[in-house]
Amino acid sequence: MTNHKGKFKMRTSLLLFITLLTFLLFGCDSAYGEGMTKPVSAQAIAAGNIENGRDLFMGYAHFQNDGPPCMGCHSVGQSGLLGGGAMGPDLTDVSTKMSQTDIASIITNYGWTISPVMEPIYNKHPLTENEQADLIAFLNASSGQPKTNKEPLVIGISLAGSLAAAILLGIIYRGRLRGARRLLVNKAQKELL
Ligand code: HEC
Repeated sequence: MTNHKGKFKMRTSLLLFITLLTFLLFGCDSAYGEGMTKPVSAQAIAAGNIENGRDLFMGYAHFQNDGPPCMGCHSVGQSGLLGGGAMGPDLTDVSTKMSQTDIASIITNYGWTISPVMEPIYNKHPLTENEQADLIAFLNASSGQPKTNKEPLVIGISLAGSLAAAILLGIIYRGRLRGARRLLVNKAQKELL
């Protein structure tokens, strides 16, 4: 009996040991998934480059892993003629609402603040630590700036468009209208005679 118990204990502890070893070897790393980047550290954020961040955000520069530019879904300040997409919230003042590490965590999908919309995209195309630092530096610098107000611009563009269309139609049908008028005039003159 005691012999059996001893065997059982040894097997259990061997199993525990292997599990522990597996966890130590692979467990900690697997939380980030394959190819994923960890959220950038606070020191690295301090070294972020605002200009690079703006170029990455706006899509003037490519992300190393081919992720889409943030402005497809977000606006920041008055960057871009019509600002960015409206799917995500305006990020002008995001660094006054969220800590830098929270922003790093949402763009790397690690931690408590995960966006179900951004996660599948940036899991496949993870941002490098430098890219994160540059983006966060850009977002910090944009805080307090006036936001894009798209409405007057959109109304202006559509008014200009309608006016241009009216002028174009006027030019195209100029001859026709005159012709019709001349016909009417001729008819009236004939009737008078
Ligand atoms: C496909 C659209 C899309 C893209 C691209 C995208 N986001 Fe987002 N983002 C969202 C949505 C939507 C939310 C709001 C949370 C949600 O509903 O998932 C969000 C939330 C956020 C938030 C939190 C804002 C808040 O007020 O809570 C930050 C910060 C953020 N995004 C940064 C970025 C950055 C930086 C990039 C570029 C690397 C980016 N996003 C690219 C859609 C997008």
